[in-house]
Amino acid sequence: MIGYVSHHIPILLEPITDFLVTGMEALPENLSQCIILDCTLGGGGHTSALLQRLQEKAPHRPVRVVGIDRDPEAIARNRVKFEKEISDGRLEVHHGSFSDALRFAGDRPIVGLLADLGISSDQIDSEIRGFSFRFPAPLDMRMNTTRGIPLSDWLEGVGETELADVLWKFGEERLSRKIARRLIDLRAKNALPKDTSALAEVIASVFPPPMRYKGIHPATRSFQALRIEINEEIRELETLISKVFPALVPGGRLALLSFHSLEDRLVKEAFRTRELYKIHTKKPLQAEDDELARNPRSRSAKLRLAERI
Ligand SMILES: C[S@@+](CC[C@H](N)C(=O)[O-])C[C@H]1O[C@@H](n2cnc3c(N)ncnc32)[C@H](O)[C@@H]1O
Repeated sequence: MIGYVSHHIPILLEPITDFLVTGMEALPENLSQCIILDCTLGGGGHTSALLQRLQEKAPHRPVRVVGIDRDPEAIARNRVKFEKEISDGRLEVHHGSFSDALRFAGDRPIVGLLADLGISSDQIDSEIRGFSFRFPAPLDMRMNTTRGIPLSDWLEGVGETELADVLWKFGEERLSRKIARRLIDLRAKNALPKDTSALAEVIASVFPPPMRYKGIHPATRSFQALRIEINEEIRELETLISKVFPALVPGGRLALLSFHSLEDRLVKEAFRTRELYKIHTKKPLQAEDDELARNPRSRSAKLRLAERI
C-alpha cells in the first residue's frame, strides 16, 4: 500500500531552485517550449519549489518541468500530488531511468537539469521495500520494482569475491571479506537471512563486540553498498553524465546532489571538461547548521552546480 503523502524533506532547496530558475533569465527569449528535467522526482519537493519559483520569476517563459523517477510508487504519488500542474501543462511525470531522460525530452531544448541522487525518505522508511534494517523487510532494495532482481536473488547467485568487492567499493566496508565469507557459508547451509533485520544481524555478528556498539550500526555501510549494486547506481550516473549532460542547450544549468564520495568524484570529474562546462561551485555546497538540525539526512549531501557552455 502506497502512502500518498511523501515525507521526504528536499535538501538544499533554495540554492538549487535559485540556480536553475535564475539561469532561465539569461537564456534567449525566443527558445521555443523548453524544459527543466528533474531526473529524480522522489517526493516532488524540488519540483514543487521549481514550479512555484518559475511562476513567480518567469511567468512569460514557455518552460515545463519534466519529472522522472524509476520508482513506480514515487510516480503514483506524484501523479496525485501534482494533478493540477499536470493538467495545466506545467509538469510531466514519467516512469523511467536516467537512460530514458532524452526520450522523454524529445526535441525540446533542455535548459536545466537536477539530479538528487540516492534514496528518498519514502523508500528508506518503507517497511516493505527492503532498504532499511530498522524492521524486518523483504530483501528487495530495488528502486524500480518492475525490473532487475531483488537482493535475495542476487545473494543466491553472487560469488564470494564479487560480494566482498561490492561491500568494499560501494560501502568502504573494511570487514568486506569476512562479511562475504560469512554470508557464503550460510548460503552453503541453505541458511541465508530471510529479511533485512536478519541480514543486519549476520553482518553485525562479524564485527568484534566492541566495534558492534560504537557509532553507526555496523550494517549501515554494507546496506548502502548492496543498494548501490542492486540499482546499478554508478552505471546510471555514468549514463547521465555521458548522454544527458551534454544535451543541455548552451547556458543550460546543472544541479547535482550526491551522497557518496564515488558519485561526487564522478560529477566533479565531468564538470572539469572545460570546453563543456563552466563550474559555479569550486567546492561543493553543503547543508548549513539550521538545515542539519531540521533534516539530519542532509548531512552527507554535496551539491555541485555548473553551466553548459
Ligand atoms: C533523493 S530522492 C529525490 C527527492 C526529491 N528531490 C524530492 O525533493 O522529493 C531520489 C529519487 O531518485 C530516484 N532515482 C534514483 N536513481 C534514479 C535513476 N537512475 N533514474 C531515475 N530515478 C532515480 C529514486 O527512486 C528516488 O525516488
